[in-house]
Order: sequence, then C-alpha cells, then structure tokens
Amino acid sequence: MELYSELEDPSFTLAPYQSIWKSHITRVVESVLDTAHVPIVHCKTIGKNSSLKVQFQFQAEGDTIWIKNEKVQLEYRFPQHWILRTRQERKNRLFNYVTFTPIDDKHTAIMGYVGRIFLKLSMVNKLFSKYSCKILKED
Ligand SMILES: [Fe+2]
Repeated sequence: MELYSELEDPSFTLAPYQSIWKSHITRVVESVLDTAHVPIVHCKTIGKNSSLKVQFQFQAEGDTIWIKNEKVQLEYRFPQHWILRTRQERKNRLFNYVTFTPIDDKHTAIMGYVGRIFLKLSMVNKLFSKYSCKILKED
C-alpha cells in the first residue's frame, strides 16, 4: 500500500495525538466525513471561520474519497485512514493524517499526526497535539 507522500517528506515536523471514541468505527468514519458539522460542532476551533453554507466538491474512485474546497483537501482511503491537507503555499502547509482502528464494536482508536513545515521547534509539538485532542473532544 502506498502511503501519502507527506508522511515520507522530512520537511514536515510531526506532532502525534490519539483518542478513543466510544463508538463503532462506521459511526466514527461517518462523523469525520461529515463536513457540515465543522462550523457548528467545531465553532470555537477549526470551524471558527467556516461558513454555515458549506460548499465542497466530492469525488470517489475505487477505495478513495476526495472532499475539497478552496481551503482544504481531504483524501480518505478505505477502510480506515485519511489525510487532510491545507491548500496554502508550501511554507505554511499543514496536514492532518488520521487512522481509525476498531477496538471492539463500541470503541474506536483514533491516532494521528499533525504535520507542518512552519514552527519546527519540538516544544510546539505539544501544542499541536493538545489542540488536536481538544478538537476530537468536541465531537
Ligand atoms: Fe468533528
């Protein structure tokens, strides 16, 4: 299986995070693909500047779904991982790579990395990790 190219690009600094949701993996995947919830559920974090008039382009082919607008591009590969890329110039680029792993029929582990080209100090990793966990708690 081919990985997303960003995961093998040494110019990105990675901040890991993880959480366990009390939910079946199908519900977790359904939730993370639901772009409409971002400006509502995440109105204090990643959805702060999002419009309620959600407009995304969707495309599916084989085991991959692409969801994108002018700001972000999400590439979901079945059965259980995705990457969300910001569509900014390279020096400000950020990605969020996430895997979804079923523990049992009522629990799913979410493990991810926030990758960035800017602010490469290792102590900043904790801030990105903490912020990612905060976002997951909003769901
Ligand atoms: Fe969410």
